[in-house]
Amino acid sequence: AVPVITLDGPSASGKGTIARLASQALGFHYLDSGALYRLVALAAMQANVDAHDEQRLADIALHLDVVFSDTSVWLDGKNVGDEIRAESCGEFASRIAHLPALRAGLLDRQRAFRKPPGLVADGRDMGSVVFPDAVLKIYLTASTEERAHRRYKQLMDKGISANIENLLQALRERDERDSNRALSPLQRSGDAKLLDTTCLTIEQVVDKVLEMYAE
Ligand code: CDP
Repeated sequence: AVPVITLDGPSASGKGTIARLASQALGFHYLDSGALYRLVALAAMQANVDAHDEQRLADIALHLDVVFSDTSVWLDGKNVGDEIRAESCGEFASRIAHLPALRAGLLDRQRAFRKPPGLVADGRDMGSVVFPDAVLKIYLTASTEERAHRRYKQLMDKGISANIENLLQALRERDERDSNRALSPLQRSGDAKLLDTTCLTIEQVVDKVLEMYAE
């Protein structure tokens, strides 16, 4: 089978950056599953779909017209790379992501990223639901304060103004929402290896992931 490495973890734990760099180092494909949830959120907001309308949201998930390029994401032929990174989009995504029909609607699309020579996938349920047979499952984490700082820097780099206290509060609420779910995508898959990145640099985390894969 085509090897898959899964990187799951809470909001702003660094999954995206690490997964992208690890996939480049290995020459593997990369799946940013959070982007799919954000794309559904964006499409739903544009169409004024209610956050509780499971059927319509599932329908959007099934029929998303999406193209991923190395540098961006295209929805209905429009570059939405920056738009989907907005906090408002992440917020809406996290409010609809618990809907089973929506999650089911994204399943095949996610699995289609698994192509030779391999895949690095990041998200919440990559190791538990989408790729249960992954060769390496990692659960990335970091303290809430550290994650708030990373999110702050990320937004500032993009010229988006932000406030640390607000980000901290939003992260706590997001964690709470994610961990209170009946089928919690935040729960660590039993066979995932814990990697606490609070005191590690990006390079150190990538090296650790590559080491774990080589073992
Ligand atoms: O890191 P952050 O949570 O801000 O963003 P993301 O990884 O892009 O994911 C956006 C939202 O989608 C998350 O808050 C989750 O609620 C949801 N999500 C999910 O439920 N399952 C996934 N595999 C990926 C994201």
